[in-house]
Amino acid sequence: LGNGLAKTPQMGFNDWNAYGCNVSEALIKSTAQAMHGNGMQAAGYQYVNIDDCWLTHNRDGNGNLVPDRAKFPDGIAGTASYVHSLGLKIGIYEDAGTATCAGYPGSLGHERQDANTFASWGVDYLKYDNCNNTGVSARSRYTAMRDALAATGRQILFSLCNWGQENVWTWGAGVGNSWRTTGDISPSFSSMLGIFHANVRLASYAGPGGWNDPDMLEIGNGMSTTEDRAEFSLWAEMAAPLIAGTNIAGASSSTVSILSNKAVIAVDQDPLGKQGTMVSSSGGHDVLAKPLTNGDVAVVLFNETGSTATISTTTAAIGKAGAANLVNLWSGATSTTTGAISASVPAHGVVMYRVSGR
Ligand code: GLA
Repeated sequence: LGNGLAKTPQMGFNDWNAYGCNVSEALIKSTAQAMHGNGMQAAGYQYVNIDDCWLTHNRDGNGNLVPDRAKFPDGIAGTASYVHSLGLKIGIYEDAGTATCAGYPGSLGHERQDANTFASWGVDYLKYDNCNNTGVSARSRYTAMRDALAATGRQILFSLCNWGQENVWTWGAGVGNSWRTTGDISPSFSSMLGIFHANVRLASYAGPGGWNDPDMLEIGNGMSTTEDRAEFSLWAEMAAPLIAGTNIAGASSSTVSILSNKAVIAVDQDPLGKQGTMVSSSGGHDVLAKPLTNGDVAVVLFNETGSTATISTTTAAIGKAGAANLVNLWSGATSTTTGAISASVPAHGVVMYRVSGR
């Protein structure tokens, strides 16, 4: 979307994966504070996003949405001003139907009024869901909110959440800054893997201002450390929005360090804005390549299977002429090659390289 936002994929936090409906001002504030203090903000995380269940079941007498004051004593505006005071931005959730997925009032038919409300509260990001949509085409429902957001005059990142319906990738770039390509993720390797396969084929639709969204990260929510690193690497390789979905204030140092790997984040945030593609895939052994703006190529060797395997490719296969330098983006080790790129990759794991040279 040409609104000047998401020139590189958005980075931030959303409460849904870890907390479901249990969102609150206290959670959003403590998460913002943790991101501010633990290095995540410095690593590029910017948006602190509120998901479903922040509002009351009825609009007020003027038809305005009403935050649940038991959960948000200072309202969304008060919460937003705290988040802004830390140099972060705030996101909110609504739905392009008559009700949100959890049954709170939706924005269908109220787009202008609700967009104005969000802007008046200082909201910087809208995740717009697809439940209870009465069968009206997604494209028209999402376009109505796009236009309503633009009319506010406030820069609000627009994140489409219609689960890949109506081949959203074919029209998403004209309507939003990102679009979900699948149903909801859950914290398991098999869920992550299925979403990866669905999303990786859609590379040609992604670019600066509009990204394929394979859903929020499950890092820290129950997969193994090896699997968590795989998810972070694959999402970065696919130029996906990096929206942390775990308890940030209570996260282990290992979780924070995975989410804060600057070399992997640089692949995601590379200004060329190309989504990586599958170079080869056989028997659950995948090779992905993502061209970067300085001519380097980010390579992921991904082992989908349950046993350690050697996965190999060549510099020619990833678009390089021959000899190259490799930096392993998880260990930091450097090496050189005359053409072969090969590594032993743990079950459900990755080895990720930045490859430079001709
Ligand atoms: C849908 C979305 C999720 C989450 C929930 C909230 O399932 O896809 O990401 O926002 O609704 O109810």
